[in-house]
Amino acid sequence: MEERNKTLGEFIIEKQEDFRYSTGELSRIINSIRLAAKVVNYKVNKAGLVDIIGAAGEVNIQGEDQQKLDVYANEIFIQTLINREIVCGIASEESDDFITVCGSDNSHSNKYVVLMDPLDGSSNIDVNVSVGTIFSVFRRVTPVGTPVTLEDFLQPGTQQVAAGYVIYGTSTMLVYTTGHGVNGFTLNPAIGTFYLSHPNMKFKEDGTIYSINEGNYVHFPQGVKDYIKYCQMEEGNRPYTSRYIGSLVSDIHRNMIKGGIYIYPTSSKAPDGKLRLMYECNPMAFITEQAGGKASDGFRRILELKPTELHQRVPFFCGSKKMVEKAEEFMAKAE
Ligand code: AHG
Ligand code: MN
Ligand code: MN
Ligand code: MN
Repeated sequence: MEERNKTLGEFIIEKQEDFRYSTGELSRIINSIRLAAKVVNYKVNKAGLVDIIGAAGEVNIQGEDQQKLDVYANEIFIQTLINREIVCGIASEESDDFITVCGSDNSHSNKYVVLMDPLDGSSNIDVNVSVGTIFSVFRRVTPVGTPVTLEDFLQPGTQQVAAGYVIYGTSTMLVYTTGHGVNGFTLNPAIGTFYLSHPNMKFKEDGTIYSINEGNYVHFPQGVKDYIKYCQMEEGNRPYTSRYIGSLVSDIHRNMIKGGIYIYPTSSKAPDGKLRLMYECNPMAFITEQAGGKASDGFRRILELKPTELHQRVPFFCGSKKMVEKAEEFMAKAE
């Protein structure tokens, strides 16, 4: 990366012209996520040296064993957003219910809610494999000046005003969209600054990587089984390459750069799939579409699903447009 690259701070100021940033509030949200990401990055990087690896001893609302870093990242992101007095509500994979942020003057005057997966792929922490953070931003629908309600959170993904992820990988990146394409920034850890390293990120229209936990094959719906067999068939540019890290952020980040499809389907063990619509699928779908890709539940566009619950799960097919369309063909055929 060259030093003349724009910093994230400069990029945000430049985009102030954009109506989505115009009041400065959205800029402040991205700025506070940038700050929290640096704090979490610092901790993730020290995993193994300090007592931050392993289970926290609690089970979250998802029925998962919380890792210490799940809890830490959740607290850092929530506290950073609250301290800056920029949001009126926060919902998180790791918190049972949404949090109402009233502001220090108790005015409930902020306009945006943030939903997040504070630490994605947390089962990978102990083995030094990339993890991430995912966030999604909506404008509230209830009147400013009143406490937020569930309605402010349960909006379809099409209403997102911003979404992004942080990947704590071989290098740490912040990738986000406000609906005008996708830009990626890499952290220079020596000086703690994010630089624009991946402007205007795009999915290839077609790709050769498929990412799915094939260990669950016997439990998959027939359409997914048929698509996997198609990926493995020797014909044209197939068989495709199989790559599965088990961190959604890392798997999608790789596929966005190289071209590929990510699938987390329903299974007889998980009838609604595993991934969460509000914290994982909606933000990743928004980024994917903004990068020219496609995201569906196998049949319908993710961003148009009307959420009914905060912690709702959905099957997820996401990536290069032609690959997702092909997988949907198999799903429809097997119906
Ligand atoms: P989280 O760590 O936020 O709970 O998310 C875990 C998710 C996602 O990151 C990953 O793609 C998927 O779980 C992996 O699940 P399997 O181990 O069932 O493949
Ligand atoms: Mn989890
Ligand atoms: Mn996750
Ligand atoms: Mn998580």
